[in-house]
Amino acid sequence: MDAASRRSCHFVALIILGISPILCFAGGASKKCDVFSGSWVFDQSYPPSDYSATCPFLRSEFDCQKYGRPDRHYLNYRWQPSGCNLPRFNGVRFLEKMKGKQIMFVGDSVMLNQYNSLICLLHAAVPKSNISAPYQTHYVTFQDYEVTVTYLWSHYLVDVVEESFGRVLKLDSIRDGGDRWKQVDVLVFNTGFWWYAKGNGKGWDFVQDGNTIVKDMDRTTAMAKALATWGRWVDSAVNTTKTRVFFEGIFPTHYRGNEWGKPGLRDCSRETVPVAGSRYPGGPPSIAGVVEGELRRVKRNKRVHFLNVTTLSHLRIDGHPATYNGAGGGMDCLHWCVAGVPDTWNQLLYLFLLA
Ligand SMILES: *[C@@H]1O[C@H](CO)[C@@H](O)[C@H](O)[C@H]1NC(C)=O
Ligand SMILES: *[C@@H]1O[C@H](CO)[C@@H](O)[C@H](O)[C@H]1NC(C)=O
Ligand SMILES: *[C@@H]1O[C@H](CO)[C@@H](O)[C@H](O)[C@H]1NC(C)=O
Repeated sequence: MDAASRRSCHFVALIILGISPILCFAGGASKKCDVFSGSWVFDQSYPPSDYSATCPFLRSEFDCQKYGRPDRHYLNYRWQPSGCNLPRFNGVRFLEKMKGKQIMFVGDSVMLNQYNSLICLLHAAVPKSNISAPYQTHYVTFQDYEVTVTYLWSHYLVDVVEESFGRVLKLDSIRDGGDRWKQVDVLVFNTGFWWYAKGNGKGWDFVQDGNTIVKDMDRTTAMAKALATWGRWVDSAVNTTKTRVFFEGIFPTHYRGNEWGKPGLRDCSRETVPVAGSRYPGGPPSIAGVVEGELRRVKRNKRVHFLNVTTLSHLRIDGHPATYNGAGGGMDCLHWCVAGVPDTWNQLLYLFLLA
């Protein structure tokens, strides 16, 4: 945070479950600032440095510049909340503040996107420091600061258990990851896309809901039940004085041009600028409401922060790799270029963590 914005803006996170508005006292007058509502502003001074050419940890799937993306303007958009200014991400300050701590991202491959952005942002801040990365795809330690950043793969958060008759998605069990998750100091979760996956790739053959095992069920209902299980797990297993818990809003995709006023378009490949303004024409994805609704139910005395990044990401029709990725040339309008939009998710995480 630079001195000016520290002076003008004092951030006080209200601990009402995740929907934590941030109070911003600008020039002595206090006003409520929802940092998730705003618009993207073109700013030549932003980002301070594009780390994609120098980050040793950057995955080829997200490295749009390396895989031929011809434009660079998408790197220059800054998220501007309507009611206040965001502090810039300061990697050294982050590492100093997080000294001795472990940060863990748990979720699907878009969570991996965010993890990849964070380790690159931190590396860019301290490129000469000792960094150990034995499994850099999911485990990096900044030794001089004793900060470890980890990514753990979990499509559903709840358990998938191999039984004699097949793989069972257990909507009311979090035994699997839970013991590992709760050891760390900062946990960031997401879930979403996979609840609607079809075929064998979805990773399970049956769903268990209570004592009932079925072949399949309404996926939205299934996701809501799993999120409720997750909420109970936070309530019962996590000491939120020690462990800060974050949950990401649904990460949107861009495969339907009619959502942003270009009917007929089936992907994001021609987009080079964000949607202007603060409203995404197509509205939020229908599952966003399920996540928000379930998170509201997590007990209010628990410090769970909801990172409501759905709309701000939705506006970034220009933020995806499209075909500029090292993942085999497919059309990708689901993941995000790194550097890019995930840096802003981390900037928001930084805001809440360091507030
Ligand atoms: C998330 O942000 C969007 C856009 O600002 C807003 O419409 C929605 O109500 C927010 N949700 C929550 C739970 O704060
Ligand atoms: C960093 O690495 C150098 C070279 O291996 C070593 O001499 C130094 O002690 C390390 N510093 C820390 C803090 O681990
Ligand atoms: C929760 O963590 C805090 C800080 O580490 C500690 O002081 C407290 O005793 C813990 N509470 C429980 C119930 O373990």
